[in-house]
Amino acid sequence: MNLSDDQIAEFHERGYLLLPDVFSGDEIAVLTGELDGIFSQDRPENVREKNGRAVRTNFAAHTYNEAYARLGKHPRLINPVVKLLGGPVYIHQYKINAKAAFDGDVWQWHQDYGTWARDDLMPEPRAMNIAVFLDEVSEFNGPLMFIPGSHKGGKLDAGHDLKTTSYPLWTLDNETVAGLVDDGGMVAPKGKAGSVLLFHCNLVHCSPGNISPWDRTIVYLSLCHVDNHIRQFKRPEWIAHRDFTAIDVLPDDCLLAPAGERLTPA
Ligand code: SIN
Ligand code: MN
Repeated sequence: MNLSDDQIAEFHERGYLLLPDVFSGDEIAVLTGELDGIFSQDRPENVREKNGRAVRTNFAAHTYNEAYARLGKHPRLINPVVKLLGGPVYIHQYKINAKAAFDGDVWQWHQDYGTWARDDLMPEPRAMNIAVFLDEVSEFNGPLMFIPGSHKGGKLDAGHDLKTTSYPLWTLDNETVAGLVDDGGMVAPKGKAGSVLLFHCNLVHCSPGNISPWDRTIVYLSLCHVDNHIRQFKRPEWIAHRDFTAIDVLPDDCLLAPAGERLTPA
């Protein structure tokens, strides 16, 4: 999958790009079929909501689940990011955010690079997210909300919020967010399962709670240029990875290959 010049220009201008119909229903079914098995495991990589039950975010599934390992080397995800970041990338962080029906809590206003710079000493904002919707994302089930163009202001002042949710985050204050929204407005990209959303690591974003009866599961690959790898190893390896090897992509049909089949890079 190649991005057109217009798509690249739109990404640089707005800080995000929504691509519908990137993965088929069969490919998404391979991934969703693994979720119960992953979320039911008692392991630190499953960070639960404050209620202690629903999984809020699962880390590093690519290191212990074959389907998610394949997704982590998928050419439809890796190639566009290699193009946008101008060179080889490694996986800085890999997460499945469940945002479960009725239980999914908010993600406060933040920039991802704010955390990667402060906690992991990532030198520059040469990293970004590429996300795959495993469920339909609608206005009801806690979609991501972006302030278009907000990535252009660089890394903003932030405070370390350890209280609001079960997961610590460097968050922006209300005054900062209000000023940015005055300039850029707000959008909430929505789409069917199989849609892909790319966004700049300095794009200001959040998501509201999910009190709808529909789960909103999204997988995020946070990819970083290999030259820009993190310099501080304060957080657990499964939150901020220390393997800076460039990803070799698998063949395009890798998700549908039989389980257990050894796949060689494309
Ligand atoms: C994030 O910003 O890292 C997660 C937001 C979400 O999944 O809603
Ligand atoms: Mn984020």
